[in-house]
Amino acid sequence: MQKKTMLLTGGTGGIGLETARVLAGQGHTLIITGRSPAKGEAVARTLREQTQNGQVSFLPLEVTSLASVRELARQVYGRTDRLDVLLNNAAVLEKSHRFTAEGFETDLAACHLSNVLLTRLLLPLLENAPGPRVVNVSTSGHRFVRQVRLEDFNYQKPPYVGLVAYAHAKTLNLLYLYHWAKELPRVGFIAADPGSALTGMTTSMQAKDFPLLMRLLFPVFKLVGGGFGSPGKAALSSVMAATGGELTGRSGIYLSPKGKVVKSSPLSYRQSLQEAVWRNTNTLLEPFLHDNPLTYYESHSN
Ligand SMILES: NC(=O)c1ccc[n+]([C@@H]2O[C@H](COP(=O)([O-])OP(=O)(O)OC[C@H]3O[C@@H](n4cnc5c(N)ncnc54)[C@H](OP(=O)(O)O)[C@@H]3O)[C@@H](O)[C@H]2O)c1
Repeated sequence: MQKKTMLLTGGTGGIGLETARVLAGQGHTLIITGRSPAKGEAVARTLREQTQNGQVSFLPLEVTSLASVRELARQVYGRTDRLDVLLNNAAVLEKSHRFTAEGFETDLAACHLSNVLLTRLLLPLLENAPGPRVVNVSTSGHRFVRQVRLEDFNYQKPPYVGLVAYAHAKTLNLLYLYHWAKELPRVGFIAADPGSALTGMTTSMQAKDFPLLMRLLFPVFKLVGGGFGSPGKAALSSVMAATGGELTGRSGIYLSPKGKVVKSSPLSYRQSLQEAVWRNTNTLLEPFLHDNPLTYYESHSN
């Protein structure tokens, strides 16, 4: 297998850690991210030892902060001049109706804006690779989203239900990714659905995070472990999306938890929605793209 340079956000725990384990085991040069440098450096060290791959390193990222995304991008430019794969895995399923210091609803910031911004800032590095891929970890929860809040893009209006806002943000991310695939045909844009896994994200869910009807089923859900599988199994679609040879030249696709190309929700293919989400997102990110990424990073990377 050809060795690649990859950046995997949220590689210090949950599904991301299992994804990192496989990718590091395959010998790729891998940068993982997490919030805590102490924990992240320790995880990277363990991965290096376990996989005998010395090319695993760590950089910090707080995915709810666009300033942190910019700082991560700046540091990535200091580590590599080429990126074959950007795997946007880190996300947050927020529990309450909260806004970030930059004014964005937390799920929107964590599940959509941060990974679009990171991708945009790193595009010059991706464009230096022969067959670059951007993988966004999605969720089957997007299939329950019936409407996109174009008029309330920042999810200001109550009621707020954690899982609903999270699925909405992931749906925006999918719509945006499909549009991006048309805009930039040289990059493979792939959404990867991990299925469900017992991780920090899912074990912390409470009845109130579910829509009203599903709340009634919550005790049963807890009893049977929510049908959750292992994070190792859930890493399969991300690994396939990052490395699968049969996906070369493909873009704007959705991978099932088994790594097969499947259809996402009908809503996600609506071109007018994709365009509207593209426009709204770019407007929100404008202030964070004030420097041309390439010239900005060239002048800051010495
Ligand atoms: N688990 C599921 O059943 C499921 C289902 C569908 C989709 N997904 C998607 O799969 C991806 C991984 O989910 P997961 O279940 O593995 O989640 P997780 O257990 O919360 O992921 C843990 C990883 O994310 C990092 N992380 C958590 N909060 C962060 C923050 N605020 N800023 C930056 N990094 C943060 C952690 O880093 P530190 O703790 O080291 O900071 C760690 O590396 C997400 O995109 C999620 O939406 C998961």
